Amino acid sequence: MRLKDRNAFITGAAQGIGKSIAMGMAREGANVAIADINIESAEETAQEIKELGVNSLAIKLDVSSQEDVAKAFSTFTDKLGPVDILVNNAGITRDTLLMRMKEEDWDAVININLKGTFLCSKEAVKLMAKQRQGKIISISSVVAFMGNPGQANYSASKAGLIGLTKTIAKFLSSAEADYITGQVIHVNGGMYM
Ligand SMILES: NC(=O)c1ccc[n+]([C@@H]2O[C@H](COP(=O)([O-])OP(=O)(O)OC[C@H]3O[C@@H](n4cnc5c(N)ncnc54)[C@H](O)[C@@H]3O)[C@@H](O)[C@H]2O)c1
Repeated sequence: MRLKDRNAFITGAAQGIGKSIAMGMAREGANVAIADINIESAEETAQEIKELGVNSLAIKLDVSSQEDVAKAFSTFTDKLGPVDILVNNAGITRDTLLMRMKEEDWDAVININLKGTFLCSKEAVKLMAKQRQGKIISISSVVAFMGNPGQANYSASKAGLIGLTKTIAKFLSSAEADYITGQVIHVNGGMYM
């Protein structure tokens, strides 16, 4: 129970990797907010997580909207308390070759993957600075390092996220990891070394 009574705000946690992170943190005793644009799925996931014996809350959130982000953090602090951990996980792809990529494909990916991380981190850092503690984890991708044909927007968003993360330089969420900060940790089965 390494995260007992910690509160985690996880974006895009209704399904996929975000949901697995939420379940993993809940199993370690954390209360988790499932902040997702898909509120129906978020509610189902929050319900599943409550069965693990922790508090869980579904929050409707479009990470690319400043107004939504401010409201979501305010709901979180009202209902759960201090934000101990933020996981910037929400992400999308709009893949196509550069010459066919529409401006809206570029904007959608940058706005959700990169600007969303900026907006959520900014809101969390304001609270964490007052608390004098907090951890932020952001989910990047191997393509930030390798590039990938058809993913100019996605690779750029994920590479940008690393620069943003290093600048914020808060990193992992358990007390054992207090001495690690501003690092990129590769979890990719050897796709990139
Ligand atoms: N799946 C992979 O192989 C892989 C590899 C490397 C990195 N990643 C990254 O991991 C993260 C999760 O990937 P996944 O495969 O679980 O994705 P997924 O598509 O299964 O889940 C993404 C979640 O984000 C939510 N979401 C989408 N737009 C949103 C928005 N504007 N605001 C809030 N929530 C929003 C979706 O509703 C969904 O629940 C992403 O950032 C992705 O780029 C995934």
